[in-house]
Amino acid sequence: MKYVFGNWKMYLDFEESVILAQALVEESFNKEKNEVAIFPSTLAAREVIMCLNGSRIAAGAQDVAWVSKGAYTGAVSAHMFKSAGCKYALVGHSERRYVFNESDDDVRKKIEACLDAGLIPVVCVGETQEDLNENKREYRLKKQLMKAFEGLQINGGKVMVAYEPVWAIGSGKPCGPDEADSVHGWIKLEVKQYLGQDIPVLYGGSVNPENVVSYAARDVIDGVLVGGASTKLESFVKLINYV
Ligand code: 13P
Repeated sequence: MKYVFGNWKMYLDFEESVILAQALVEESFNKEKNEVAIFPSTLAAREVIMCLNGSRIAAGAQDVAWVSKGAYTGAVSAHMFKSAGCKYALVGHSERRYVFNESDDDVRKKIEACLDAGLIPVVCVGETQEDLNENKREYRLKKQLMKAFEGLQINGGKVMVAYEPVWAIGSGKPCGPDEADSVHGWIKLEVKQYLGQDIPVLYGGSVNPENVVSYAARDVIDGVLVGGASTKLESFVKLINYV
């Protein structure tokens, strides 16, 4: 079983999100084989979840607040996404880390908030081009993973990781499958140190219908987290069918 997750980011408005969700539900691709989930905007999430009702496609939040309730203008909590019908939440996406200045500590609090609320956090990690130039990929990933998982109490919940090298996101220059394969193996060993168990690790960054098989065919790569190519019906359906 592989995971095919579509992060719609801030690409689709309300109507476009609902139309795409309805169209996906009507497609006859093999949803039984894999776990498919979409991550719509917060505004469209509830309506999208209504469209997905009865299908095997799950929904997730793109981000959550780290507290469950209170005076936090503009924020939406993990509990609220859960009560609206979400199963997953992205946490620490690089756009949150680098555009909105989220720290590793913020990410940790959000992971805990997801677990408390019964959501499955998909913890995004990845090095920047600068990290890569300075030979700091392992350093960056180690730091992000340690802050995320050291001493974390999962209490029967589930967590996942998405390896998304920042330089590969939206650039059309994905991390090659051999390179991704070895980083995934390394991430799995790191996480196991902290959690004592294997968790699914997805690859994200310029995944498209043409290259998806090169990732999905690898045992150590448990699936893909797709941005741009998940926002168009034709390419997302192809991606799901090819995996
Ligand atoms: P792209 O697939 O558009 O490169 O985005 C990847 C991503 O950030 C998914 O979360």
